[in-house]
Amino acid sequence: MNAIEIQNLTKTFGQKRAVDGLSMTVPQGAIYGFIGENGSGKSTTEKCVCGLLRPSNGKITLFGKDYRDKTVRSQIGVLIESPGCYPNYSVWNNMKLQAANLGIADENEQIRRVLHLVRMDGAASNKFRNCSLGMKQRIGIAFALLGNPQLLVLDEPINGLDADGMRIMREILTELSRNGCTILISSHILGELEKIATHYGIVRHGKMLREMTAEQLNAECPTFVALKTPDNNTALAALKGRYPNTEYDPERQEICVYGGVAADTVGYLYNEFGLAPTEVRTDKISLEKYYINLMREGN
Ligand SMILES: Nc1ncnc2c1ncn2[C@@H]1O[C@H](COP(=O)(O)OP(=O)(O)OP(=O)(O)O)[C@@H](O)[C@H]1O
Ligand SMILES: [Mg+2]
Repeated sequence: MNAIEIQNLTKTFGQKRAVDGLSMTVPQGAIYGFIGENGSGKSTTEKCVCGLLRPSNGKITLFGKDYRDKTVRSQIGVLIESPGCYPNYSVWNNMKLQAANLGIADENEQIRRVLHLVRMDGAASNKFRNCSLGMKQRIGIAFALLGNPQLLVLDEPINGLDADGMRIMREILTELSRNGCTILISSHILGELEKIATHYGIVRHGKMLREMTAEQLNAECPTFVALKTPDNNTALAALKGRYPNTEYDPERQEICVYGGVAADTVGYLYNEFGLAPTEVRTDKISLEKYYINLMREGN
């Protein structure tokens, strides 16, 4: 059974079609990376899934039931924007209030469990306003986890986090997924998403452009040869002459030859230009590069 099935979802705000006939399938147990430009309709779609917005048209099914079904609604945890916390209350008391709102009976035990899951055991007595951004994002996840949901809907939960904060979030989401929770997560930080997502949905202008598994993405991402040489300018010009699809990556300070074979490129540089590369590796293009190429094609 799929955790989420959306057919032909449309959401309009006045004349604006924020979501325009979007379909989506999120299999149970997936970490589904939801990607798209600013304003492409990700948050609006997520709000419709969570019942925070009423669709103008289309069908949303969660675990085989209509999204408005009460039994299925209680299975969903949501973090869209920031958690509604009282700044002067402690983390623990904010959690108590939320648990009371949700009518959770064994609240102390649940709060302890979810705070432990998000690595916040030691911070329960901190005032919310004194928590760092990374802590606040994790508290948001803890809020969403109260009630032990089978599906988590997260809107850009890693925005603004430092490398360590992202690593912790990655570990939390992977652990939740291992325990059977399905996760729909929107993000612009594709390098991070790529480390955990099992499925992707790429949305554009309110429509689903591509849906694929991580394996499909991997199979579709072409390999390239990356070289470092003592004279990158000469090598770049030389390689471009033979392999037009060659670029310089200033970040990694290497020349990337798309559609080339390592032995051929090295042999060519050495035989024709007397240049011996100091480093050669083959790699696959990243999700980010794949996404940029896909967006270019769509223009
Ligand atoms: N309540 C609203 N009233 C009017 N227009 C809205 C409303 N909410 C969203 N929109 C518009 O709908 C479009 C889609 O917005 P949405 O927030 O879903 O995009 P997004 O993909 O989440 O973008 P971002 O990556 O910037 O978060 C945008 O053009 C936005 O301005
Ligand atoms: Mg958004």
